[in-house]
Amino acid sequence: MEHLINPHVKQIEISGIRKFSNMVAGTKDMISLTIGQPDFPTPEHVKDAGKKAIDQNYTSYTHNAGLAELRQAAANYVQEKYLLTYNPEKEIIVTVGASEAIDIAFRTILVPGSEVILPGPVYPGYEPIIQICGAKPVYADTTGNGFRLTLDILKKYITEQTRCIVLPYPSNPTGVSLTKGEILEIAAFLEDKDIFVLADEIYSELVYDQDHFSIGTVLKDKTIVINGLSKSHSMTGWRIGLLFAPQYLAEHILKVHQYNVSCATSISQMAALEALTVGKDDALVMKKEYIKRREYMYERLNSMGFELVKPDGAFYFFVKLPGNYHNSFEFALELVEKAKVAVVPGSAFSSLGEGYFRLSFAYSMDTLKEALNRIEQFLISSK
Ligand SMILES: Cc1ncc(COP(=O)(O)O)c(C=O)c1O
Repeated sequence: MEHLINPHVKQIEISGIRKFSNMVAGTKDMISLTIGQPDFPTPEHVKDAGKKAIDQNYTSYTHNAGLAELRQAAANYVQEKYLLTYNPEKEIIVTVGASEAIDIAFRTILVPGSEVILPGPVYPGYEPIIQICGAKPVYADTTGNGFRLTLDILKKYITEQTRCIVLPYPSNPTGVSLTKGEILEIAAFLEDKDIFVLADEIYSELVYDQDHFSIGTVLKDKTIVINGLSKSHSMTGWRIGLLFAPQYLAEHILKVHQYNVSCATSISQMAALEALTVGKDDALVMKKEYIKRREYMYERLNSMGFELVKPDGAFYFFVKLPGNYHNSFEFALELVEKAKVAVVPGSAFSSLGEGYFRLSFAYSMDTLKEALNRIEQFLISSK
């Protein structure tokens, strides 16, 4: 019967990150720098709000788009922080993580044959959904420009079929962001085009060298902004994402969401309400720590001779393989075997990531120090 399975689903591969971590799971005394989630616990007051929600019987379905108070809190939060203006009644949907927001956004706007431009290397969560829609991911090569998509690069990939451009900044895996000027240029170009923008801004609270700027402030009628609490409040397991879109579009996205999940978990929504109000600046403590780690790692990696771009957001370094290596999977495997350090092969982030590896700094300083010592030893002995 396997031949009857939807060919679009058959075509999807399991994530390269998962493939690699499965392969090395169980290696003794290994330090892993592979994880893409904060190493801090969810703030206590947010956890308490979740516990209270159970005790107070917030255990039934909510409005499909999410609790009204939570949508209001989300509207206030993005207005205050990023100058984004959305009507909580018609333009905001609370989703099951940013992942569901990506899924329902693509399924609403894509048809077979649509093309979606992804600035590569890129987070591997977009391609499979695009493929399920029968649409085509088109990778824009940003490797020659410090991993940043500029208007000039973008223009090379636009065709009659282009239906959407993904702007995933700050970026996983590269940690880079676009400047306000670069975003304004792209927005001005798209102003008169029938092309949507999916702005995945899940790392917007973790920007280090500039203020986060969202294209949704200047191109609202074509933009779907995706955010959530996974990274800002260390709530990956609570599964709360946020989707912001103009009313004409949100109305349709909401139908896909409704028949997909009905609503996000009520208990998590109550915790999210606490996070976006009382805890609206909870990310600052983590951000301070990430900045320290970033400086430390940048210095160490530089002194080892690695070629890299300093990240100004998220918690990743995307580093060029040492000169004698060309295959990122083989390099990562050798690093596990010889140095007992796990990193993510760049090829997990599209073929444009080949030739690089990703290090996460969502780990304690002690762990990072030990991992870098091991990598340094590995480099010396493999020369
Ligand atoms: C760029 C990006 N978008 C979306 C997600 C998914 O977020 P969530 O866990 O809220 O579904 C991740 C998770 O790592 C991510 O890095």
